[in-house]
Amino acid sequence: MKVAVVYDLENLDESRVKMVDSVCEALSKYHDVEKLPFGDNFIERVKTFDAVFNLSTAHLQMHVPAILDVLKIPYTGSSPLAHALCTDKILTKIVLQHHGIPTPRFFVVPIGEEPDSLDFSPAIVKPPRQGSAKGIHADSVVENVEALKRAVRRVHEQFREPALVEEFIEGKELSVGIVAEEVLPILEIDFSTLPDGLERFYSYRVKHYYGEQTCYICPARIDENLRRKIEHYARMAFKALNLRNYTRMDLRVRGDEVYFLDVNSLPMLTPNYSDIVKMAEAAKLSYEELILKIFNDALRCHRDL
Ligand SMILES: Nc1ncnc2c1ncn2[C@@H]1O[C@H](COP(=O)(O)OP(=O)(O)OP(=O)(O)O)[C@@H](O)[C@H]1O
Ligand SMILES: [Mg+2]
Repeated sequence: MKVAVVYDLENLDESRVKMVDSVCEALSKYHDVEKLPFGDNFIERVKTFDAVFNLSTAHLQMHVPAILDVLKIPYTGSSPLAHALCTDKILTKIVLQHHGIPTPRFFVVPIGEEPDSLDFSPAIVKPPRQGSAKGIHADSVVENVEALKRAVRRVHEQFREPALVEEFIEGKELSVGIVAEEVLPILEIDFSTLPDGLERFYSYRVKHYYGEQTCYICPARIDENLRRKIEHYARMAFKALNLRNYTRMDLRVRGDEVYFLDVNSLPMLTPNYSDIVKMAEAAKLSYEELILKIFNDALRCHRDL
């Protein structure tokens, strides 16, 4: 098949360049592959391909699949609807709650308003439409109304978004991936090896500057009942959010209670770096096998539509 690997030129950092090159390399043993950055004449150019591996992020995450739907070209990943829901953490939580999938309790403070009480503590204040831990810092976790007001104001001013205030769950941090209807081994992120004084969660600085000092354990050190419970809710969330082909969900566990924090409808696929790739390794899937599994499942999903 003639396959385009589509990506956006914005936010093209080192790990994204590596992801695009590695996906091309993995597919090129079986298909006629070309890189296609989103840009001028995209519609005309993409029409000449039989299928797309969609690696476009952030702003284009839902637009590229929307264009491909109109052109009836099969592509990897979810539909525009699922990406739209998952790029907004408030909408994601409303859908999860509606389906009885556990997520931390929360409230929203719209721009122009100020919170005057805090019903649960500690709480974490987040911008709902960002990713990669943007806007998440040590002082995003608050225990009183004054600190809450400051954190809310920062989200409003810095991102021009409402502020999402969630109960902060002290506990193990896990991530669960689904690829081609298979739940991969669950990944545990252990922050206990970080230097003293650093927050024990994925703040912006921990995610971007302390990756090497964070410990990744796969499969996670959890018992079989908890594993089954997570798998059950992850499959439910996959359906409820209309996800397709592959995804990654972040969660925390406290005792044997599970809380879904965030659903990544287009997780990164960088070798030796991305969580999904670590999970695939634990399932004895090589990088090439993972990419082909995603691609072949995407073709199957489109045949079934
Ligand atoms: N309610 C919560 N309780 C405990 N920790 C939390 C909570 N919400 C967020 N965190 C911490 O902050 C991190 C980032 O939060 P979240 O996953 O919501 O943001 P994100 O920017 O979408 O992350 P990414 O896109 O990188 O997955 C989480 O991985 C977790 O460590
Ligand atoms: Mg997350």
